[in-house]
Amino acid sequence: MSANPVFFNGQFVDPAQALVPVVDRGFLFGDGVYEVIPFYQGVPLGMAKHLDRLEYSLSEIALPNPYERNQWLSYIWQLVARNGGGDLSVYIQVTRGAVAKRDHAFPPADTPATVVMLASPLHSLPAAVRQHGAAAITVPDLRWARCDIKSINLLPNIMARQQAVAAGAMEAIFLRDGQAIEGAASNLFVVRDGVILTQPKSTRILAGITRDLLLMLARECGEVVEETAIFETDLREADEIWMTSSTREIMPVTRLDERPVCKGHIGPVWRRLDRAYQEYKQTLISTGGES
Ligand code: PDD
Repeated sequence: MSANPVFFNGQFVDPAQALVPVVDRGFLFGDGVYEVIPFYQGVPLGMAKHLDRLEYSLSEIALPNPYERNQWLSYIWQLVARNGGGDLSVYIQVTRGAVAKRDHAFPPADTPATVVMLASPLHSLPAAVRQHGAAAITVPDLRWARCDIKSINLLPNIMARQQAVAAGAMEAIFLRDGQAIEGAASNLFVVRDGVILTQPKSTRILAGITRDLLLMLARECGEVVEETAIFETDLREADEIWMTSSTREIMPVTRLDERPVCKGHIGPVWRRLDRAYQEYKQTLISTGGES
C-alpha cells in the first residue's frame, strides 16, 4: 500500500487501485458534489461546517447522504492519519454512482453512491503573495443558477481560472449584471472607505466557510462589515480586494485587470484581519481543534 492512500467506497487503497467505472455518473454527467476541508498540523478548520455544507449540497441534488456524520468523521480522521497528518487538504467527492445504462434521469434508488476522498499537502500562500499581493482578472459569470451547491460541474470555473493563469494572474472574478460575484474558487471581499463588503449568501455564490469565519473575526475586531451587492464600480474603485478559500485563506489582490488596486500595495485592513485569522488558527492548533 502506498504511503498516501485514498479513500474509495469504504476502503483505503493505493491511488492506482481507486478506479471508477466509465459509467459512473460523476464521469458521464458531472452528477455529484464535493467538499475541501483544510487541516493544519492535523487539526481541521471548520470540519462540522464543511460536513453540513456537504449535507446541503447532497440534499439539493436529491442524493441521499451515504454516511452518518460519525462515519464521515471516522473515515476522514483515518484518511488524515494514514496520510501522516500535518497540513493537508481533504477532498471529498460523492457521485450518484454507476449503472450500466446511460440515462439522464436518476438511476434506481438502491444504486450506491461513489465516494472518494483524497488528502493532499496544503501549501500556505506563497511569501511573495503575502508581501506584494496577487493579480486577478475579471470574467463574465457563465455559471448556472445554483452556485450555492458545491457541484463537481466546474467547467466555467476551470475556464475562468485558466484564463487568469494565462494572464499571469492567480484568480478570476466573475462579473454578472454589473456586480462582482465571487472568484473561480473563492469568495470576494472589497474594502471601500473603511467598510468591508462581501456579497450576501444567495444562489449566486458558494457560502464559503472561510467567508463566514472572516466575517466573524472582522466583527470581533470591530470592523464595519456589510453583506451587500458589490458593484463593478466598487471593485474598480476598491481600496482593498481579497479572495477567501479553504486552500488560500485570505488572498490579497493588488492588481486587477493589469491595473493596481488603489496604490497597488497590500492594505491595512487585510493586515489586521490576516493577523486575526492566523491567531485563530494557532489557537485552534494549540487547543487541538473546534469543540
Ligand atoms: N473552492 N466560491 C467558490 C466557487 C469555491 O469553489 C470556493 C472554494 C469558495 C470558498 O469556499 P470555502 O471558504 O468554503 O473554501 C467560494 C474550493 C477550495 C475548491 O474548489 O478547491
